[in-house]
Amino acid sequence: MRKVTVNLGKRSYPVAIGSGILSSLGAYLKKMDIGSDAFIVTNAFLKNKYGRKLAQGLSAKGFPCHFKLVADSENSKSMETAGQVIKELAGFDHKRKIFIIAFGGGVVGDLAGFVASVYKRGISYVQVPTTLLAQVDSSIGGKTAVDLALGKNLVGAIYQPRLVLSEIDFLKTLNREQFSSGMAEVIKYAVIKDKHLFCFLENNHKKIIRKDPSALEYIIASCSRIKAEIVSRDEKETRGQRTILNFGHTIGHALEAAGAYRGYNHGQAVSLGISAALELSLDYKLIDADSAQRIRDLLRLYGLPLKVRGVTAAAIIRAHYHDKKFSGKENKFVLSAGIGRARIIRNIKLDLIEKAVEGLF
Ligand SMILES: NC(=O)c1ccc[n+]([C@@H]2O[C@H](COP(=O)([O-])OP(=O)(O)OC[C@H]3O[C@@H](n4cnc5c(N)ncnc54)[C@H](O)[C@@H]3O)[C@@H](O)[C@H]2O)c1
Ligand SMILES: [Zn+2]
Repeated sequence: MRKVTVNLGKRSYPVAIGSGILSSLGAYLKKMDIGSDAFIVTNAFLKNKYGRKLAQGLSAKGFPCHFKLVADSENSKSMETAGQVIKELAGFDHKRKIFIIAFGGGVVGDLAGFVASVYKRGISYVQVPTTLLAQVDSSIGGKTAVDLALGKNLVGAIYQPRLVLSEIDFLKTLNREQFSSGMAEVIKYAVIKDKHLFCFLENNHKKIIRKDPSALEYIIASCSRIKAEIVSRDEKETRGQRTILNFGHTIGHALEAAGAYRGYNHGQAVSLGISAALELSLDYKLIDADSAQRIRDLLRLYGLPLKVRGVTAAAIIRAHYHDKKFSGKENKFVLSAGIGRARIIRNIKLDLIEKAVEGLF
């Protein structure tokens, strides 16, 4: 088991990563004095697969549990679903102190965290992430949100959990597509901050694809440490440090929006976004051609795309200009300054951006 800490003064919290650690959740919670009744937000698949084990561990330490099931879809990140969860939470909230467990992927994590942030002006919650993407990214850092028809993540708060428990055994049941989607984020971390992790991903491909627990533990702990350090220094993304986590996400988000969130899953879109960012990094002479090729080869090795199908370059560029982060005149890209280093570049000329997007076809 490995442990990482998100350092935020009184709101600091641990991230525990390991195989077979779910059974210790009750003991952790007991020590933290988090409350007495557990309200678990999850979906039917996860409850059927892992719910009994989760509940047993909690009951053994004296926590009564209540499962609230939400539909298994991004649509659950909505004001409507949040309202339903809050109503049921209020019904279950007796005189004892209640807390929330977000038990699922990023959808459940964002929704349950959002509910925790607003119910009674904020109650304690813990993240028990079950996808690779949620373990390395969404469960850490306190960004909670629901979507509106106008756009993703438009309503939410930065509200930190009290604990993140990443049980590696959950990843055994992830399908190949979900696993490789998470690997896009893992590769992102390696490229922006961790050359050693990058080499590990190159040299241990077979083990990782086989979901070897010790290889996964190393990867998830490395990513969690990077995210925890960045969040500790720039919790609210006001100091520009959290920005580097957007590597591959500028064009990636545009692609997701252009495909109306159907064409590519998040990791695939990020992979294509990384590929476009590499083109710009080459234009700016920040990275050499061999390193850029190594990064592309690694994405391909993990089943991630480098070429776009199903949307036009014009639609991607149009979506890029509608992005909420693209503020008027100035654009901002995270580029690669060699494996393990990132740089933020502003005001990139339109024709260079267009050339990078067209290079994806
Ligand atoms: N808060 C943040 O900082 C942050 C960061 C990145 C992404 N996100 C959000 O995360 C969401 C995407 O998260 P995601 O990729 O985890 O998607 P998800 O939560 O939809 O999970 C993907 C699928 O995997 C299934 N699943 C979950 N755990 C499983 C397991 N152990 N075995 C088998 N199947 C399992 C789910 O039921 C679902 O069908 C998006 O809404 C995105 O906006 C948030
Ligand atoms: Zn992402």
